[in-house]
Amino acid sequence: MASDSIAIRYVTDGDKEEWTRLWLGFRAHYDIPIPDGLGDANFKRIMDDSVDMWSAFAVDTSRDDKPIGLVNWVSRPSTWDLTDIVYLHDLYVDENERVRGVGRKLIEFVYSEADKRGTPLVYWTTDHYNHRAQLLYTKVAKKTSKVIYEREL
Ligand SMILES: CC(C)(COP(=O)(O)OP(=O)(O)OC[C@H]1O[C@@H](n2cnc3c(N)ncnc32)[C@H](O)[C@@H]1OP(=O)(O)O)[C@@H](O)C(=O)NCCC(=O)NCCS
Repeated sequence: MASDSIAIRYVTDGDKEEWTRLWLGFRAHYDIPIPDGLGDANFKRIMDDSVDMWSAFAVDTSRDDKPIGLVNWVSRPSTWDLTDIVYLHDLYVDENERVRGVGRKLIEFVYSEADKRGTPLVYWTTDHYNHRAQLLYTKVAKKTSKVIYEREL
């Protein structure tokens, strides 16, 4: 697949099946149980204009716009700035479509949408051992000094 046949578009109402397939592919990378109904709830929130949660597909225009990658992102208020900041939640590219620029295009799409909304700060986290993802991230972003803590439940 030539990289010029990759396009990025927003996920819409009729995309639930492919959205779910890609999202489950993403979640399969994590050994964290998925609560019942979470996929449905996420899709509903993404379709809800009143919720600042969005999703876009990478599609292959040379194969009937087949979805081959997914990005989900949210924005939230920040005490450090007057504008919201964007958190890129989930990024996934089908296994046989990787290292062709799809992941980069999905991140760049989030950047451009964040710019349009006047919320240019975009951040995300990854596992320290996810070297594959970091090969991409070092090219499109800077690594910060922050580490993450979370409450033990
Ligand atoms: C991480 C992921 C989204 C990357 O998607 P992708 O489409 O393969 O990424 P891209 O092709 O856009 O970018 C790959 C970049 O890394 C570089 N890269 C990839 N493999 C490389 C290697 N072995 N050596 C050196 N560079 C490499 C490429 O050169 C490319 O850089 P370029 O855009 O300057 O050419 C994909 O691997 C994935 O879905 N992984 C499973 C889920 C996951 O880990 N998600 C992220 C969770 S934080």
